Amino acid sequence: MNIIYMSKSVSGFSKMSKSNKIDWIVATYFNHNEDAKHIIKQYWNTNIKLQQLHDEFIENTITNYYLPFGVAPNFLINDKMYAIPMAIEESSVVAAASKAAKFWLDRGGFKAEVLSTTKIGQVHFMFHGNFKTLYAFFKTVKPKLFEATQPITKNMEKRGGGIIDIELRDKSESMDGYFQLHATFETLDAMGANFINSCLEQFAKTFREEALNYDDFSEKEKNIEIIMSILSNYVPDCLVRAEVSCPVNDLTENPDINPEEFAKKFIQAVKIAEVEPFRAVTHNKGIMNGIDAVVLATGNDFRAVEAGVHAYASRNGRYSSLTHAKIENDIFYFWIEIPLALGTVGGLTSLHPLVKLALELLHNPSAKELMQVVAVAGLAQNFAALRSLTTTGIQEGHMKMHLMNILNQFEATNEEKKTLIDYFKTHTATHSAVVEAIHNLRSKK
Ligand code: HMG
Repeated sequence: MNIIYMSKSVSGFSKMSKSNKIDWIVATYFNHNEDAKHIIKQYWNTNIKLQQLHDEFIENTITNYYLPFGVAPNFLINDKMYAIPMAIEESSVVAAASKAAKFWLDRGGFKAEVLSTTKIGQVHFMFHGNFKTLYAFFKTVKPKLFEATQPITKNMEKRGGGIIDIELRDKSESMDGYFQLHATFETLDAMGANFINSCLEQFAKTFREEALNYDDFSEKEKNIEIIMSILSNYVPDCLVRAEVSCPVNDLTENPDINPEEFAKKFIQAVKIAEVEPFRAVTHNKGIMNGIDAVVLATGNDFRAVEAGVHAYASRNGRYSSLTHAKIENDIFYFWIEIPLALGTVGGLTSLHPLVKLALELLHNPSAKELMQVVAVAGLAQNFAALRSLTTTGIQEGHMKMHLMNILNQFEATNEEKKTLIDYFKTHTATHSAVVEAIHNLRSKK
């Protein structure tokens, strides 16, 4: 075996103390450089209890990874005011959301509506035999699947949720012998992953045990092979819609472009994202700037949301825009419809102090309310990006916000920052223009 490979491998790492893990990492990957250790430790919280809480969120934790936690105020959603928490590393996202919120505040705000809240889980299994017999078996065993999961579902049922239905699905046309138990769930304020997976694993166990004793099955048919039991992050029936609208003549934000021209150009930009996948991906990335930031700040699973949202964007066989726009009777409408499986209880929601704070800032929402807020954040973000793209271009505003990052790269002093921020109020900020301005300023000293 390669010697370098050997010298960098380790056994029992998970069982080492945090301090030994750091020593090993620094010795093995940083050539014993104490600077690496210093950076790792610099991000520890001085509050030992709080640090331990974070250490225990995941495995093999060596330090914390900060993301800025910002706030976008002035969101009027269904006639209620919100300041939306956003955790994100990218400059201009929070500013863009804030600007869009302020713009729509004077035009009736955002309207949002949850269209459905059904979540999905599947037991994937292999069966080689007569489908009619399998279907007859499924019908007899279905009540037993509900019964067997009673200990798991009883609390959720008391609150009004639980298993909605279980179907047998024949997928053997796609893959020989492949079938599913396709189950639907209502998980109320919980994202529901643990609840759904526990139910599915019990379904699988009961299904297999009952099959072994089902007399109408042949010996071969009795041997149902469970492949896996897992929720689906594709939730096309857990949908939320958010919308803004105003008379076209009220689209007066930019004096350089008349409202009608702006509306038409804006709608064309949306239509391009509807028909052109290369544009749709970037268009939707801009929407996810807003969505992920709120999902993350509220302790939800942004990977699940991302996967589900993009699958939804491809549901008609071609990847397309998540937002839509039109003019009808001189009214401009702009809306989004997306699947979002979110929770406001369980997971990190009561554990992570900043997640708790974010939820409190949002008036401790139900999962449905949070779905509305998140959809609005996505719509606002898209509005801001398209407004810039179809008028000034994206770089003007984005670079104005990114300026501070470039100044920090050059370790600008507070005095230098102040001078250069003033300077770029009237000059176009590109990376090279900022670098040149820093050099000019310093050469004058
Ligand atoms: P502006 O007109 O220069 O801003 O816009 P302003 O200085 O006139 O301020 C107006 C309001 O904007 C402020 O009101 C704030 O609400 C907000 P106020 O607070 O003064 O009452 N705002 C700020 N909020 C917080 N901190 C700030 C700040 N500055 C303004 N420093 C702005 C500047 C960046 C907002 C605008 O140009 C914009 O919205 N640009 C779009 C930026 C964007 O979309 N960024 C996302 C990253 S780019 C990307 O990844 C996505 C993309 O590829 C997606 C796609 O292609 O569709 C573009």
